[in-house]
Amino acid sequence: MKPRDRLRIATQKSGRLSQPGRELLTRSGLSFRESRDRLFCFGETLPIDLLLVRDDDIPGLIAEGTCDLGFVGRNVLEELRLGELRAGRVPAFAELRALGFGQCRLSIALPQEQAWNGPQTLAGLRIATSYPNLLADWLEKNGVEAEVVTLSGSVEIAPRLGKAEAICDLVSSGATLAANQLREVAVIFESEAVLVGPSTAFVDERIALADLLLRRLDGVLKVRD
Ligand code: PRP
Ligand code: ZN
Ligand code: MG
Repeated sequence: MKPRDRLRIATQKSGRLSQPGRELLTRSGLSFRESRDRLFCFGETLPIDLLLVRDDDIPGLIAEGTCDLGFVGRNVLEELRLGELRAGRVPAFAELRALGFGQCRLSIALPQEQAWNGPQTLAGLRIATSYPNLLADWLEKNGVEAEVVTLSGSVEIAPRLGKAEAICDLVSSGATLAANQLREVAVIFESEAVLVGPSTAFVDERIALADLLLRRLDGVLKVRD
């Protein structure tokens, strides 16, 4: 790969991590010039640029070296990490810091009227999710045989559509579950925003830049708690 003298951070284009992520960078002394399409933001105070992408693409962008660092939910990172391990590969990305925002949990939910008697309640059912690896892992650990139905979005409506009897999705305020007459019955993974980076060391001028950024982030995160 060609040497680079600027650092590139991948962040979520729109969604609940995008605003707090930008605030964290601002408080770390970084400022950006927005491009017309708003997908690339040029770093003005430091040679650190932003790429605005879909959150699910962030670990892959880091693994392939297109971006150097990223802000992403631990849920996304762990789902992809499990996928890599299952495929017999060593993940090329790693969690570098917990960022203290974007707290949420990945939970199993059932239609409100349905009884819950522990994980075995799910035996033989279809469970809709966008996190098939995290769900399969949890089912295996709990000795439950169920069918995992993978959907990329709108998981909450799967029971009403007759596509599944249960769901496994992210819960933050719980408003989405309530609006869909679903009841959270088990938390399978706790998540928050994290800083992701390569599992190997940086090269060229990015070593010093990443070092500087991490020190600034640590300063801001320490002030916070
Ligand atoms: C998640 C999840 C639910 C919603 C739950 O989606 O899929 O739709 O948040 O939040 P609530 O409990 O506060 O209602 P999100 O938009 O965060 O991510 P996604 O677009 O990547 O699915
Ligand atoms: Zn997403
Ligand atoms: Mg959603």
